[in-house]
Amino acid sequence: MSDIAEPVYQTEALIAEDIDAYLEQHQHKSMLRFITCGSVDDGKSTLIGRLLYDSKMIFEDQLAALEADSKRVGTQGQEIDFALLVDGLAAEREQGITIDVAYRFFTTEKRKFIVADTPGHEQYTRNMVTGASTADLAVILIDARKGVLTQTRRHSYLAQLVGIRHIVLAVNKMDLVDYDQVLFDAIVKDYAEFARGIGIKSFVPMPISGFKGDNITALSPNTPWYKGPTLIDYLETVEVDNSAAQAKPFRLPVQWVNRPNLDFRGFAGLIASGTVKPGDQIRVLPSGKTSTVSRIVTLDGDLDQAVASQSVTLCFDDEIDCSRGDVIATSASPAQVADQFEATVVWMSDEALKPGRAYWLKIGTQTVSATVQAPKYEINVNSLEQLAAKTLELNAIGVAEITTDKPVVFEPYGDNRTLGGFILIDKISNSTVAAGMLHFSLRRAQNVHWQAVDIGREAHAAQKGQRPAVLWFTGLSGSGKSTIANIVEKKLFAQGRHSFLLDGDNIRHGLNKDLGFTEADRIENIRRVGEVTKLMTDAGLIVITAFISPFRAERDMVRAMLPDGEFIEVFVDTPLAEAEKRDVKGLYKKARAGELKNFTGIDSPYEAPERPEIRIDTTKVTPEEAADLIVERILGVWSPDL
Ligand code: ADX
Repeated sequence: MSDIAEPVYQTEALIAEDIDAYLEQHQHKSMLRFITCGSVDDGKSTLIGRLLYDSKMIFEDQLAALEADSKRVGTQGQEIDFALLVDGLAAEREQGITIDVAYRFFTTEKRKFIVADTPGHEQYTRNMVTGASTADLAVILIDARKGVLTQTRRHSYLAQLVGIRHIVLAVNKMDLVDYDQVLFDAIVKDYAEFARGIGIKSFVPMPISGFKGDNITALSPNTPWYKGPTLIDYLETVEVDNSAAQAKPFRLPVQWVNRPNLDFRGFAGLIASGTVKPGDQIRVLPSGKTSTVSRIVTLDGDLDQAVASQSVTLCFDDEIDCSRGDVIATSASPAQVADQFEATVVWMSDEALKPGRAYWLKIGTQTVSATVQAPKYEINVNSLEQLAAKTLELNAIGVAEITTDKPVVFEPYGDNRTLGGFILIDKISNSTVAAGMLHFSLRRAQNVHWQAVDIGREAHAAQKGQRPAVLWFTGLSGSGKSTIANIVEKKLFAQGRHSFLLDGDNIRHGLNKDLGFTEADRIENIRRVGEVTKLMTDAGLIVITAFISPFRAERDMVRAMLPDGEFIEVFVDTPLAEAEKRDVKGLYKKARAGELKNFTGIDSPYEAPERPEIRIDTTKVTPEEAADLIVERILGVWSPDL
C-alpha cells in the first residue's frame, strides 16, 4: 500500500464526543461481506488499500473494538456473525494451523463492509472457499493486459460453488492499456461466455485502476464510454442477501436453551431464513413435534416479528422437547431430515480424506458423526473436468456420498447456506479437514426406515441370562490375539455363557474376502465387523473379536456404536520385535523381504490404544493366564446379577 497516503479520520470527532451516537449511527447501517479474488499481481492489495483510503475508513482495530462494544450492549440483528466455517477455522488458527484469510473492516456513510482477502495461488483453494463461504459478493480482478486467465475461471467457479450471488468483474490496470474500450469489451465478452457455462446468471463489469483510482469512488474522465456505477457505489447499493433470505420459509437452528428460572424456557439462535411472529405454528426438527410461538424475546424487549439474520429467543405455548442442534421451522413447510446425502466436499487438510472413516460433521448447530464414501469424482477446478478419484487430497474438490449416524435437518446448499453448508472435523486431532455443500438426500435414505421389532436386545439377553458385551482384541499380527481369544471363549462356554468369536483371518475368507490391506480396506474391514458385532450383541451374545484393527478412529467408532460400558478393549501388547521373532505365519519374514506390502508394524502403522480396558503384556503372562485375567475381569464386573 505504499502508494496510499494516511487514512483520514473523519468520524473521530464524533467518536470522541459522543460514542453512543456514533454506535447508534454505525449499527443501523447494513453490512456487505465481500471477497476479492485475483492472482498474485492483479493489484488486489492496491485495490483494497484504495477502497479503505477513498472511503475514509477508520482504523480496523478501532472498528473492531466498536463492534465488540456494540455486542456487549446487546444489539440484535446486525451483528457480525461469522458463520460456522469461519468459526471452525478460527478455532483452528488457535491450534496453530494456518488458513490465510485476512478479514478487514471498513465503513462508509452508507454501509459497513467486511472484505476477505485471500491469497490467489492455485494451492490455496481452501483459503478462497473459506473467505467466500460467508460473502455476499465477489470482486474478480482481471489484469487488463492479460484478460481472462485460468485463475479467473477457477475463482469464478469457486465463487459460484459457495453460492455468492453478486459478481463484479473488475478489469484492473486500465491505465496501462490506455483505457481501451475495445479491449475491455473483448474481455467482458470472453468472461460472459465462460460465466454462462458454469451457471453464473449475471455479473457487473467495470473498467478500473486501483492504482490511479479510476471508477473506484468517482467516475473517471478517462473512461467516458463507461456507463455503469463506480465500484464503491455498487458496493454501497447492491442488495444484500437479507430480502431473499426473508422470503424463504422460517428456520432457526437452536444454539442454546435459555432457562434462567422455572417460569421461563426459550430457544435461542440466529434466524437462518424467513420471518416469525407470535402465534405462528412451528415444528421442531428432527422430532417433528409442533407448537405455537408465544413470544419473541430479545435484550431490547419483545418483538412483534423477527426476520432472517436476527438473533432471538423464541418461547412456545407448551413445553415441547427442543434442544441445541434442533431446528425450529415453519410447520407448513419444514426443512428436510435425512442421514444420507450427496455433497460437494472441499478438502482442506494435509492428510487426505479416508473414505469410510468417521469424522464429526457440523451443520448449523448440529454435530453428528459422519463417513464420506470414496468420491464419485474429483473436479479439476482449472479445466472443470470430472476426474476419477479414490480420495481427496489437500485443496481438492470432489463430489461424494456422506452418511451420518443420526438424521440431520438440512436444506440443499443452493437454498440455504446455513442448513446446507457443513464442515468435517477429524475426531482425534480436532482440526477442520473439509468444508462442504449438501446437494440432496439420497432416495434410499428416504425410503429405508428403521423397522421396530418386538423382541429387542434386552429380551434376547434376558433369555440367555447374561448381559451382552464385546471383548475387542487389538494388537499386531502374531501378537497372540487369536490364541488368547480362543481360550477366553472356551472358558466362557464352559461356564454356560453364550458367545461368538469373530477372527480376522476367518472373516477375511467370507464376508470380507473382497478387502485387502490398504488403509481404506482396513477401515472398511473394521466397519463391517463393527456392524456384525453390534447385531450379535443385539442378539444377546458376548462377542469376542480378534482383528489387528490398527486405527484408533475405527476402534472408537465401534465403541461409539454400542451402549456405554459394553465395549471392552483388550490390548494384546506384544512388542514388534517379539511378534517378529515368533513369526508364527512366516509373514514378517515375507514383509521384510518386500514380498508383502502394507504389513502392519513394517510399512503400515499400528496405533496402540491409549486407555484400553484391559492390557495384556504377553512377554509376562502365558495365554492361559491372560485368558483367566480377562474372564475374571468381565465376569467379576458383572456378577452377581447375571
Ligand atoms: S486389519 O488390519 O484389517 O484389522 P485383520 O485382523 O483383518 O487386519 O487381518 C490380519 C491378518 O491378515 C494377519 O493376522 C495376517 O495373518 C494377515 N495379513 C495378510 N497380509 C497382511 C498385512 N499386509 N498386514 C497385516 N496382516 C496381514
